[in-house]
Amino acid sequence: MNFRLTEEQLAVKEAAREFAQNELLPGVIERDSKMIHPTEQLKKMGELGFMGMMVSPKYNGGGMDTMSYVCAMEEISKIDNSCSVAMSVNNSLVCWGLEEYGTEDQKQKYLPKLATGEWIGAFCLSEPEAGSDATMQRTTAIDMGDHYLLNGTKNWITNGSSSSVHLVIAQSDVDKKHRGINALIVEADWEGVSIGAKEDKLGIRSSDTHTIMYNDVKVPKENRIGEDGFGFKFAMKVLAGGRIGIAAQALGIAQGAFELATAYAKEREAFGKKIINHQAIAFKLSDMATDIEAARLLVRRSAWLKDEHKDYVAAGSMAKLFASETAMKHTVEAVQIHGGYGFVKEYHVERLMRDAKITQIYEGTSEVQRIVLSRKIEKGNLYEPILG
Ligand code: CAA
Repeated sequence: MNFRLTEEQLAVKEAAREFAQNELLPGVIERDSKMIHPTEQLKKMGELGFMGMMVSPKYNGGGMDTMSYVCAMEEISKIDNSCSVAMSVNNSLVCWGLEEYGTEDQKQKYLPKLATGEWIGAFCLSEPEAGSDATMQRTTAIDMGDHYLLNGTKNWITNGSSSSVHLVIAQSDVDKKHRGINALIVEADWEGVSIGAKEDKLGIRSSDTHTIMYNDVKVPKENRIGEDGFGFKFAMKVLAGGRIGIAAQALGIAQGAFELATAYAKEREAFGKKIINHQAIAFKLSDMATDIEAARLLVRRSAWLKDEHKDYVAAGSMAKLFASETAMKHTVEAVQIHGGYGFVKEYHVERLMRDAKITQIYEGTSEVQRIVLSRKIEKGNLYEPILG
């Protein structure tokens, strides 16, 4: 078994680390406190190739593998999760979904700008009454012959106001239940699209999360992704890959908190010695390191399966479930290690603790991951045979 990253993957990780330290760290506290969108930072990320990492060079993408992507996600998520969530949605849900299932015309029209960050994409599935139960779509896309008429409301949309392109999941034939759902490419400036106020959130506060309303939006037929009724499967397939990206985000949050807590424990003295020399602290750090390494193995295993074109659905759900629980648990511990300092913004760990929470919720809650896994267990196809 080879756990070694390639020279190229290591170089991507290093480039992401440098970018995050030099360009994202300064100002991250202010952006988070004042909910300032990281517009400039995302633009630079696009220029550096972080917004379309896996897209083919034919469409201006980086042509990289999923392993490189999770390495970059980990590094950026140590510092700024408002940037890494935008990166995750654009790369894994929007660009990957379009490249894998779009027509050649759709790819040529949308991918080059999305892959370079000139445009940002949003993935519009959740609704006021359709969160974990994604089949309950109230948004409708009625077939009008040459176009669909789109009506409905989408909630908690990442990149809600900064995106130029939305992938919208909507019901076209309620009698067919989830098999009547379509996925449509909608441009944000089309008539009938309107954006609600920015959500004031616990974490990832500078990320622009909005409600989006569609009112009699005419979507040309050629903007449907896949065959009629493919929309729900499209959403499930795209989310299965997206969960690997969010798992890498959670891993980065946990790793970032671990690094901060370790540095602090080596400096801070109490009861006559550095606190890292007290077992109460040293054991916490040991448990953190162990869980983080286990999360990293799950993240990289799922990325590897995707790169090998094997079934990565269970692996991605396991990675997201474990990495997000690890991020939540150990960011709380990192705050505890910092004592009173951990509770103030200047020390960064409280932000990571707040950001960790969303990784247990978006792209499927921890409970949704358990649903995915329990169905695989029931069907007896949890493991890829190649893993033994
Ligand atoms: N690939 C392909 N098809 C899949 C699939 C997959 N990974 N998973 C399910 N399907 C198919 C099934 O085969 C089935 O198809 P048929 O009936 O035609 O055979 C169909 O989808 C329905 O499957 P289920 O019966 O398993 O579906 P369900 O209704 O019980 O739901 C669920 C399962 C896993 C809970 C699903 O609803 C789900 O994933 N919910 C969570 C939604 C989610 O992740 N939302 C995140 C919003 S986006 C976001 O967060 C982005 C952001 O801002 C960061």
